[in-house]
Amino acid sequence: MVKQSLHQGKTKTEDLAIFGGRPTFTEVLHVGRPNIGNRARFEERVADILDRRWLTNGGKYVREFEKRIAELVGVEHCVAMCNATVALEIAIRALGMTGEVIVPSFTFVATAHALQWQEITPVFCDVDPKSHTIDPRRVEQMITPRTTGIIAVHLWGGACDIDALSEIAARRRLKLLFDSAHAFGTSYQGRMIGGFGDAEVFSFHATKFLNSLEGGAVVTNNGELAQKIRLMKNFGFTFYDHTDYVGTNGKMNEISAAMGLSNLESMDDFIAVNRSNYEQYRQELAGLPGVSLLPYNEEERCNYQYVVLEIDAGETLVDRDQLMEIFHKENVLVRRYFYPGCHRMEPYRSFFPHAGLMLPETERLTRRVLCLPNGTAVGPEEIALICQLLRFTLENKAEIREKLGN
Ligand SMILES: Cc1ncc(COP(=O)(O)O)c(C=O)c1O
Repeated sequence: MVKQSLHQGKTKTEDLAIFGGRPTFTEVLHVGRPNIGNRARFEERVADILDRRWLTNGGKYVREFEKRIAELVGVEHCVAMCNATVALEIAIRALGMTGEVIVPSFTFVATAHALQWQEITPVFCDVDPKSHTIDPRRVEQMITPRTTGIIAVHLWGGACDIDALSEIAARRRLKLLFDSAHAFGTSYQGRMIGGFGDAEVFSFHATKFLNSLEGGAVVTNNGELAQKIRLMKNFGFTFYDHTDYVGTNGKMNEISAAMGLSNLESMDDFIAVNRSNYEQYRQELAGLPGVSLLPYNEEERCNYQYVVLEIDAGETLVDRDQLMEIFHKENVLVRRYFYPGCHRMEPYRSFFPHAGLMLPETERLTRRVLCLPNGTAVGPEEIALICQLLRFTLENKAEIREKLGN
């Protein structure tokens, strides 16, 4: 946990930092400060990497990391990469997606960019208001003769409606890829996320539940596809001086794999901390009018990484953006993921200026969602203060709103 001094107890609205009071935290608290596993094991591995002078290109730690991920997820093949964005780009190309691909707009922009980067049009589809994941009923409506695939995102680590999406993909002969950047270590109907669709892509970015500094992986049960992806991520080389495909450089390096492996060894601890933090938030925010916490499906395996609030400004008076401002001034860097929605970012906004008309739930969520800090960098003391701050703000909502102006 970050050592810091805390300024507790706001008794009047002037105590809020936004109105000149002292910030609750002296150091900034981030939503996703990296989880760091067994440091000694990481350092040992790094020393070995340096001693052996094998830094990348199919080194032993990358191979071990791939094996561990495949075993954990229960898939036949795992190809580790430098990050999930490149992994998505390569998976999209290896699957032969072209023309149009249906994706949610309510996601990190990399999901859409991975398509647009190769001149495939992302067609933005609305999400289900409860799970925040792509709505299969809307997917059907977005299919055109140019559609070649669907990329669904297991947002916040909660699984999409995989059964419905698989049925649509099979019936309409579409490729189905899952952006599982948030969903490592989670399950769907008792089966680990990773083995669904044609392939799935994990992110091991520093802010993710399990990080390899930067990193990602494609996992699949399709051996032919895995082989193609493996070659594509290494410039398309099939032998020395010989390529069969256009390729790129998507390789994971050995230090990243060492970090990934050391973190895998601490994965259960990360989940335990995330879960206990989440549970504390749940208890301390219970009953706050206008604030709802996105639930996890307790029947499944979850990584509990994201603490997602929906703010109903009709009730809270102080709206989501004002709350964000208040928290930022208190040094709590809450985030309004995934604002403003991909369809409102360039180049998509210029391409499809009216996309929002088809995305009412996405538009609504981009005005309501606020993510709170979680992970091993926060603990009970910080969470208690964050919850107190929210409670205090809402108890004084009329006065605060007046002071902030509308
Ligand atoms: C849903 C989603 N997809 C893709 C990515 C891209 O992952 P990376 O940073 O590993 O490229 C991220 C986050 O970074 C993400 O949140």
